[in-house]
Amino acid sequence: MRVRFPAMSAAIASGVIVTAIFSQWIAAHAQTNTTAPSNALGAGAVVDAAGNLRVPDGYRTAYESLGSWAIAADQGKGAKELHLVYASPGTIAAYRKDGRFPDGTVLVKEVFQPAIEQKTTGTVSRAGTLKGWFVMVKGENGRYPDNQMWGDGWGWSWFDAGNPTKTTSKNYKTDCLGCHVPARGSDWVYVEGYQPLKR
Ligand code: HEC
Repeated sequence: MRVRFPAMSAAIASGVIVTAIFSQWIAAHAQTNTTAPSNALGAGAVVDAAGNLRVPDGYRTAYESLGSWAIAADQGKGAKELHLVYASPGTIAAYRKDGRFPDGTVLVKEVFQPAIEQKTTGTVSRAGTLKGWFVMVKGENGRYPDNQMWGDGWGWSWFDAGNPTKTTSKNYKTDCLGCHVPARGSDWVYVEGYQPLKR
């Protein structure tokens, strides 16, 4: 037993190292396949072969936070809606370099019905009930020309809270574009709301 113990622990130790290296490789590989902006279009994490979008898995931990918007209530205190905007990894660094969203960039806007409460700071509006998501995916060179949710350099879609994989949008021109006209000069994105994009 005295002889076998060191041999066994050496075998176990090398097994542990191999496993560690392998799981690191898997982690690195999984990340490039699911979250890197350049793979959003190809690998199918967010866009399928026909160009249909979905809400990316795990964006709350894997994506970068761009900023938030509060829509004022028509009457009384507090917000009537809260919007939290996220971008796929690498977006902030790339945008700060040349003021452009790289091909494959994914933007996710969460829409919340706020909960309005009294806190020690005052009347607060915090994220309450999720209503759903707006998703935009940057696709240069007129991708998916047959898909009504693609055009003007982006794929566009809305998803109800219960169904992050299937959009209820029919046509980006009627469902999205009109409202984004004021942001046309910044590639249809309301960049003034996103502090991290500022240099
Ligand atoms: C009623 C007008 C309106 C409609 C319709 C609309 N948007 Fe927007 N969208 C805005 C405004 C204004 C902002 C920024 C301020 C805010 O969120 O209130 C915004 C922000 C966004 C953002 C965050 C990034 C950005 O552009 O600032 C995404 C993503 C987005 N919209 C996607 C969509 C998609 C996809 C559709 C169609 C399915 C759509 N929007 C339809 C007005 C609209």
